[in-house]
Amino acid sequence: MANILVTGGAGFIGSHTCAALLEKGHDIVVVDNFSNSKPEALKRIKTITGKDFKFYELDILDFDALDKVFKENKIDAVIHFAGLKAVGESVQKPLEYYHNNITGTLMLIKAMRENGCKKIVFSSSATVYGVDNPVPYVETMPTHTATNPYGYTKVMIEQILTDVSVSDSEWSVALLRYFNPIGAHKSGLLGEDPNGIPNNLFPYIAQVASGKREFLGVYGNDYDTPDGTGVRDYIHVMDLADGHLCAVDYVLAHTGVEAVNLGTGKGSSVFDVLHAFEKACGKELPYKILPRRAGDIAWCYANTDKAKELFNWQAKYDLDEMAADGWNFTKKNPNGL
Ligand code: NAD
Ligand code: UFG
Repeated sequence: MANILVTGGAGFIGSHTCAALLEKGHDIVVVDNFSNSKPEALKRIKTITGKDFKFYELDILDFDALDKVFKENKIDAVIHFAGLKAVGESVQKPLEYYHNNITGTLMLIKAMRENGCKKIVFSSSATVYGVDNPVPYVETMPTHTATNPYGYTKVMIEQILTDVSVSDSEWSVALLRYFNPIGAHKSGLLGEDPNGIPNNLFPYIAQVASGKREFLGVYGNDYDTPDGTGVRDYIHVMDLADGHLCAVDYVLAHTGVEAVNLGTGKGSSVFDVLHAFEKACGKELPYKILPRRAGDIAWCYANTDKAKELFNWQAKYDLDEMAADGWNFTKKNPNGL
């Protein structure tokens, strides 16, 4: 078992992954600055697993603080979740996004290199496939056409990590391209708890179901898809967490760089997600058709062959279970974490 540094471990995907790592028997050290999360998530990881771990409240832009973490702990590998992720906000605040995500990653890689830790699993995104590639997305497709600053931070960090790996063959890098993570931990203790008005479909629907929002705005029903709404590859956050366990095993045992899609390979429309949530919460949820949202595409889903071959990993949960677990979290935490 290994000692894993988790950046952004208090966040949505990070917290579920921390629980999975501890349950598998790994040790973890978590760093976060709570810019988009709450300390409560860390308490709940401990409640779920019955295990304790070290936590440092720090900003990954602070090299000295990161360096200290490596000096005080023997870290075998890093899972790097920390980053800003709101697409719309990244268009308004490009400098903040480039600085936080790219400079933050540069500081992290520098601290890793100086302390002899050269194994990293990075949170990339399906957004790197841009608008020109046909679905299903395959890892070998070109990835240089992001549509917003957030997407470009992922494209650039993938390039930086690839260049680092080329420059020094001791590095081992997994670039995990997530599709659309939704759902929540089975316990109902962890889930997605966005600040303010949710940008993403699933947490928005959850807030309509809990009565916080009046109706779901459906961004366009005139796409070239079966019901006219956008199609995405929704993946249960626990499946995603499980994918990270495989990626950690992989980077511990190999060197070089691999990009790997983490999705289900199945596309679901906005109405499919809405209806699954209605089934979970047992009531009809109001919606209105609105104009298309700028930057959205009609289709986005993964080819999942590489994850199966390289990691022997495959998503297990279907949309109904994602909705049921998401609703369980919403019901148990009406005011979030
Ligand atoms: P999140 O916002 O819930 O988690 C990110 C965490 O990083 C938060 O706890 C935040 O406080 C922390 N953080 C941000 N900047 C930091 C900094 N400078 N120093 C220290 N901590 C910092 O987001 P998430 O949904 O859990 O996403 C995790 C990662 O996965 C992100 O890199 C995101 O871009 C990527 N990703 C997410 C999705 C998605 O739909 N959720 C899809 C693809 C990729
Ligand atoms: N949608 C609505 N109403 C809403 C929110 C979303 O109709 O209130 C629709 C969108 O138009 C889209 C679908 O629901 O068709 C999914 O939208 P999300 O905002 O939930 O997710 P995206 O696919 O747009 O983007 C997400 C993350 C990105 C990431 C991308 C690919 O937000 O960070 O998945 O992984 F890059």
